[in-house]
Amino acid sequence: MASDPHDYVPGVLRQGKRPHACVVVIFGASGDLTKRKLIPALYNLALEKRLPERFAVVGYARSDMTHEVFRDKMREAVEEFSRTGLKDKEVWERFASALYYERGEDCRAQASASAWSGRPRPRR
Ligand SMILES: NC(=O)c1ccc[n+]([C@@H]2O[C@H](COP(=O)([O-])OP(=O)(O)OC[C@H]3O[C@@H](n4cnc5c(N)ncnc54)[C@H](OP(=O)(O)O)[C@@H]3O)[C@@H](O)[C@H]2O)c1
Repeated sequence: MASDPHDYVPGVLRQGKRPHACVVVIFGASGDLTKRKLIPALYNLALEKRLPERFAVVGYARSDMTHEVFRDKMREAVEEFSRTGLKDKEVWERFASALYYERGEDCRAQASASAWSGRPRPRR
């Protein structure tokens, strides 16, 4: 086991394979942590081709936002906070097309149920 957590690389990545399809749900997606750290980190994984082919992010918070507004805000966040900036617009477009936003006020029930009912619904 690596002694420094920064040295840790999961086995599948060492072998050059991508991880399986997954959906990342971010609770508090309109907040500071999401724009400052989480989305820039995921975008950098996309740049390094370390995300699964089938990948999506569902952001969840109380603020009312369309998917498009969420994507625009996350683009600004990457431009401001990513160590690479918005390095590759093509990678960004593909990554952004997999960003979705779901509004709700109670993390325990109804909104998560609708987010998990299948592919996130296009909004407006
Ligand atoms: N910011 C950082 O760099 C950082 C670093 C390390 C750890 N953290 C920790 O990460 C956590 C979040 O920090 P943050 O800076 O992102 O805080 P923040 O800017 O205040 O954001 C909080 C988020 O949670 C959402 N939220 C709050 N109550 C909710 C509810 N009842 N239902 C649904 N969504 C709700 C807010 O939604 P609305 O605003 O849309 O209502 C907002 O998106 C905190 O525990 C913080 O200590 C943050």
